[in-house]
Amino acid sequence: MFETLKPQPADKILSLMQTYKADPRTDKIDLGVGVYKDASGNTPVMRAVKEAERRLVADQTTKAYVGLAGDPAFADAMIDLLLADTLPRDRIAAIATPGGTGAIRQALEMVKLAAPAATVWISNPSWPNHASIVNYLKMPKREYRYFDEATRGVDFDGLIADLGTAAAGDVVLLHGCCHNPTGANPTLDQWDRIIATLQDRGAVPLVDVAYQGFGDGLEEDAQATRRIAAAFPNLMIAASCSKNFGIYRERTGILMGIAADAAEATLTQANLNFLNRQNYSFPPDHGARVVTTILTDPTLRADWEAELEQTRSSMLTLRRQLADELRQRTNDDRFDFIADHRGMFSRLGTTEDKVGALRADHGIYMVSDSRMNIAGLNATTVPILAQAIADADI
Ligand code: LMR
Repeated sequence: MFETLKPQPADKILSLMQTYKADPRTDKIDLGVGVYKDASGNTPVMRAVKEAERRLVADQTTKAYVGLAGDPAFADAMIDLLLADTLPRDRIAAIATPGGTGAIRQALEMVKLAAPAATVWISNPSWPNHASIVNYLKMPKREYRYFDEATRGVDFDGLIADLGTAAAGDVVLLHGCCHNPTGANPTLDQWDRIIATLQDRGAVPLVDVAYQGFGDGLEEDAQATRRIAAAFPNLMIAASCSKNFGIYRERTGILMGIAADAAEATLTQANLNFLNRQNYSFPPDHGARVVTTILTDPTLRADWEAELEQTRSSMLTLRRQLADELRQRTNDDRFDFIADHRGMFSRLGTTEDKVGALRADHGIYMVSDSRMNIAGLNATTVPILAQAIADADI
């Protein structure tokens, strides 16, 4: 049977990881996959995570199943972190999922149950796996303009023009903060116009929040999502704990399905539970329990917030350093956008050939669409990257 299988397209982020690993050069620089690295190039376990895990190992008395939706305390803690008191709790259905990707997948599966013909709109560009999952599920897909190649900011007019043609019931995938791969984000005023456009069209938002706390701060990064949540009778929010808790391999995420009222939320919850059962039965618990332990313990939470803030500010410092170095080396301010972008990534805005040349000539690895993981830099590698960009005439 397996002889009938066809080769599948490689994920460009994950295949870059392999190419990087295989490169024997000792001075190579990895700006590929979105994993936070400290100044020594390590991805440490956060202090609060270590402590929460220590407590779990000491105190956990059973590994018995929890429930199809996961631990309700995890949902409560995550809803509070992301939405605070934006909505009454009884309008929100939620399931724990294997990471943010699991939440996106389950959201799209729910759309298929509710409205099989719905078109899914994805920003151009977006995280490549968004389109890949939509294609795999054979859902109609359209793209909306997002990135202005000239300014490296949001192509806001293009975005509004494209989303202005969405049909009622279309699902629009939005990045709640820290857009991946560009690093360019709408202002809050622009978010209000996006919301008004989607309301006008009767579209349903699906908000992907994978980097809360990596942009302007935990609260600040939730603002757009809160405004969206307050504005629609139905929407979905897929949130990841991979990055802000640094628990990538634990696969910890949540899908929230926001319903028009409590009765609809009960129905939505039953459908989400059903989808978990069909796809993997019970969601992973360890990471979710670590997150709940941290968010509900004031001391652990304060320590986590402090470490997250340090992570965020170190990425901002690297952004400013890189923009400054590029200004000096090119005598030009055209790279200032790097300091304005937020989150882990910035899209440099150059050709695949030049990205290939940076890799071949300097051992600098970025995704072929010129997305750089800013957290892959440090004070030593920033000037090396700046010089290589200047030399490559980007
Ligand atoms: C990324 O965009 O690099 C991360 O979200 C990791 C991944 O799974 O692609």
